[in-house]
Order: sequence, then structure tokens, then C-alpha cells
Amino acid sequence: MNYIGSKLSLLEFLEASITEVVDNDCDSFCDLFAGTGIVGTHFKKRGYKIIANDIQYYSYVLNRHYIGNHKVLNFNSLVAEISGLGNIETKNRKDFVCDYLSNIEGIEGFIYENYCLGGTKDNDQPRLYFTDENGKRCDAIRQKIEEWKIKDLINDDEYYFLVTSLIESIDKYANTASVYGAYLKKIKKTAQNDLILKPAELIINDQDHVVFNTDINSIIGKINGDILYLDPPYNHRQYATNYHLLETIAKYDNPNIYGKTGLRDYSKQKSLYCSRRQVFNAFRDLILKAKSRYIFLSYNNEGLMSLDDIKEIMSLRGKYGYFTKEYNRFKADRSENRAYAADTTTEYLHYVICNN
Ligand SMILES: C[S@@+](CC[C@H](N)C(=O)[O-])C[C@H]1O[C@@H](n2cnc3c(N)ncnc32)[C@H](O)[C@@H]1O
Repeated sequence: MNYIGSKLSLLEFLEASITEVVDNDCDSFCDLFAGTGIVGTHFKKRGYKIIANDIQYYSYVLNRHYIGNHKVLNFNSLVAEISGLGNIETKNRKDFVCDYLSNIEGIEGFIYENYCLGGTKDNDQPRLYFTDENGKRCDAIRQKIEEWKIKDLINDDEYYFLVTSLIESIDKYANTASVYGAYLKKIKKTAQNDLILKPAELIINDQDHVVFNTDINSIIGKINGDILYLDPPYNHRQYATNYHLLETIAKYDNPNIYGKTGLRDYSKQKSLYCSRRQVFNAFRDLILKAKSRYIFLSYNNEGLMSLDDIKEIMSLRGKYGYFTKEYNRFKADRSENRAYAADTTTEYLHYVICNN
């Protein structure tokens, strides 16, 4: 997913830098501003036990699947429901189930009614987040997943795999410049194709992992893990508003919505890390409460906290240092014509080796 602040293209830098600092007896890795889960997933593949967290529910779903799921999904209870599924080799059943869902008939549900032209054409400002067809497909798939869960035809692991597959897939067909803070006036090319449910990657290993969905400062004192990796928002852009539609598809809770873009209430998900006034104290509190042996922080040179702020706070816990890398700025796609000051920023990985 094209996610603000995604570390997809920085994974090698992160791994090389972290490996340089930590002892090789570390076996747990905490990714507590987890977003897409790509960092935790990378270290899961390296054999670490992962503890992940994010304040957004769609992110919880992604991490509950990419991190939490680590065994084959056999879909045994669905065999009686989907003809042919029982004949499929267990490891391929998740693909078969996604194919089945890709082919069910669309439904005029919450997404179609509120975020597609067909459902909103009589509004003062019709919304054009998806084609009518994809809005209906999304509703039908999401409702079927929920129905299977309520009828106990899928277990939690299978449920989070399917909802993750839907979040990842629908995002590819969104009629936006990249985030959901606005939609485009005309349906762009990639949004015109019919939604296909692509199975999300399943990473099998023999470790149990833990995933939370809460404000990091409220759980940090209870998290024990050797390596703590922190990747907070860098600026004022709240994830709750930029990804509100993914939150609603993940929760599928028919929220009250408002405004031109159909926002849901996000008062409980406003991040202190997006506030110039509050970030210093929130970060200080976090660092002082952390119980890990090593703390790493990703941040760039244009974030709300200055380099001096970060150094001052992290040095409270022990020996401080940092690594840097030039990095391509997050960009919306070409249909959004913004003027950027420069194409690259300097990405920092700050660290502290904690005294206690
Ligand atoms: C820079 S992004 C993380 C990106 C992630 N490393 C990746 O590569 O996908 C920051 C994340 O922090 C989450 N977040 C913001 N404030 C938070 C808080 N107080 N507690 C937990 N998560 C928070 C946001 O929802 C967002 O997913």
C-alpha cells in the first residue's frame, strides 16, 4: 500500500543499522507505530518474535494478519459452504476463497451508498471514491466475510486474512491521488478496473506474535521486548483522516459521517505525535516509560520535533547515536500537481542503548 511514511524502501537501511547496534542475543522486536506492518513483517521473516501496535483499526487488521497469522489457513468450516473448496490442497485454499469472493454479485451497501456516484448523486456534493461497480463489490465481499464470521464458518485468523486482502485490494482501485483526504473529480484509469480480491501474503513461522490496537503511550509500560522500533507520524497529517475509508471498510460499522469527504468521528484517534504543541511531551513520556534494551526512532529532518529535541530526550536513557539516509519524499501520484521544495529529505534512524 502507498502509505504515508511507509518504510518499504528503507528496510535494508533499517536492518543494516539496527544490526550494527544490537547484540545478537536479541529475539523480540516491537513495532508500535506499525502502519502497514511492513517493518514488523521484515523482522518476522528474520526470525524475531514481533509485538505490533497501531491506533488505527485498519492497521490492526493488517498487522493481525501479516504479523499475528503464522500458520496455514485451512478454511475447514467453509468446505460445506463453497463447492469445490474441499478438493483444494490446504495451502491453496485461501486463494480459492478469494477467487470465490471476487465473483460474488455486488450489493448496494454502505460504501456504495456513501462513497460512490450512484449512491450520492442526489447529495449536494456527490462522492467519487470508487466506481459504482467496485463500491458494490466491496460491500458484497465485506458483508460476506462478516456473515461467515458470525456463522462461525471462519475463525479469527481466516477473518483477518480476508479483511486484510480486501483492504489491500480495494486501495488499488481508489479514485484518489493517494490518500482518502480527497477524491478525484473524474474516475482515473486504475480505478476503472473491476475489483479483484488478491490474497494477502501469509508468512508462516513457528513463533507466536502479539498485536495491539491502542494509543502507544497507554501500553508502552507493559511491553517487554529487546528492540523497540518507533515510527511515529512526522507532521500534522492525521492518519485517521487520510485513511478514513479504510477504517470504515475494516470496521464496517455504518458510522455517522460528515463533510465533503464523508469523514467518520476520529476524536479518539487524534495523534499527539501530529501536534507541534504536544509531541515533545508525548515522546518524552514514551521514552521514559519504555522497557526495551534498545530504542530506535525513524524521523526525518522536516518533522515536528527538532534533532536537538530528539537527542535531548533519547539521551535521558543512555548512549545516543543516529544513522542517516537520503530518501525520496512521499508523493501523491502524478494526477496531483503539487510543487515540492525538494525531491529528497534526510531520513534519520536515531537510537539509544538503554542503561536500564
Ligand atoms: C509513519 S506511520 C508508520 C509507518 C509504518 N512504519 C510502515 O512502514 O507502514 C505512523 C503510524 O503511527 C500510527 N499512530 C499515530 N499516533 C499513534 C499513537 N498515539 N499510538 C499508536 N499509533 C499511532 C498511525 O496510525 C500510523 O499508522
